[in-house]
Amino acid sequence: KNLSVIGVPMDLGQNRRGVDMGPSAMRYAGVIERLTNQGYDVEDLGDVSIQNPVAKDVKNDANLKDLDVVVNANKALAKKVKEATAKERFPLVLGGDHSIAIGSLAGVADQYQNMGVIWYDAHGDLNTGETSPSGNIHGMPLAVSLGIGHPSLTEIGGFAPKIKPENIVIIGARSLDEGEKELIAEKGIKVFTMHEVDRFGMSNVMSQALDYLKEIKTDGVHLSLDLDALDPQDAPGVGTPVLGGTSYRETHLAMEMLADADVLTSAEFVEVNPILDVKNRTAEAAVGLIGSLFGEKLL
Ligand code: ARG
Ligand code: MN
Ligand code: MN
Ligand code: MN
Repeated sequence: KNLSVIGVPMDLGQNRRGVDMGPSAMRYAGVIERLTNQGYDVEDLGDVSIQNPVAKDVKNDANLKDLDVVVNANKALAKKVKEATAKERFPLVLGGDHSIAIGSLAGVADQYQNMGVIWYDAHGDLNTGETSPSGNIHGMPLAVSLGIGHPSLTEIGGFAPKIKPENIVIIGARSLDEGEKELIAEKGIKVFTMHEVDRFGMSNVMSQALDYLKEIKTDGVHLSLDLDALDPQDAPGVGTPVLGGTSYRETHLAMEMLADADVLTSAEFVEVNPILDVKNRTAEAAVGLIGSLFGEKLL
């Protein structure tokens, strides 16, 4: 596998500054070396450039905060992801807040006909400008990828939708807004909440998730991992922490099972905020998880 690492220092998809330093924190925690040491051909494409917030649009829509900056960054990201995929390289995107999943999915969806998505997150990120309680676009990327939301977001990449609702598996959910619950029911989106993780165990949940994707014969699978899926004890450096999350060990197991299944074609690790972190622990957790995802084993 040849890997292309793309950083996206975006923090305007939500309102806690500092998540723009996520890519640096993960590079500092050794992500490139970690992958290179495993024998991969790794190219670091650096960071997508983000417009300066001081130069941003003065009229800011409260329902879709910093829309223009988010749109432009995602267009640039989609292009880079698409180029990497076209060269048969595996895009590994480092965030940045979760609004960047819009660009990642736009970039990969262009190359696959039947993309699967594993959304590993405390949240559904299925809001629109109308249903969002915050107006933060990082709570909207999965809806946008279904073609639901503001046209300047859904049309990034020139086509919509990017993915089908039945091709999505959400894992780790424990905070969903009303509009998101309605969309999940209406579209029949597969969700393993923390209840299922607790009740059946991560091993069983991951087997079910992988079987589910196998059955619909996906030709590519994207992993979108929000560090807030982990319990705040294990990943304190996130902007929207929710108690009762997956443990460090459970998440490692999930990554190891994904590595064994060998189905992923792209991945992203988002919401690492070093300003809110404790000694870069969250970035270090992310890099450890990336190691497992790419096949690291003790023996
Ligand atoms: N549901 C909330 C909202 O729409 C929180 C979203 C958190 N999303 C995230 N990617 N951390 O504002
Ligand atoms: Mn910033
Ligand atoms: Mn989240
Ligand atoms: Mn998220």
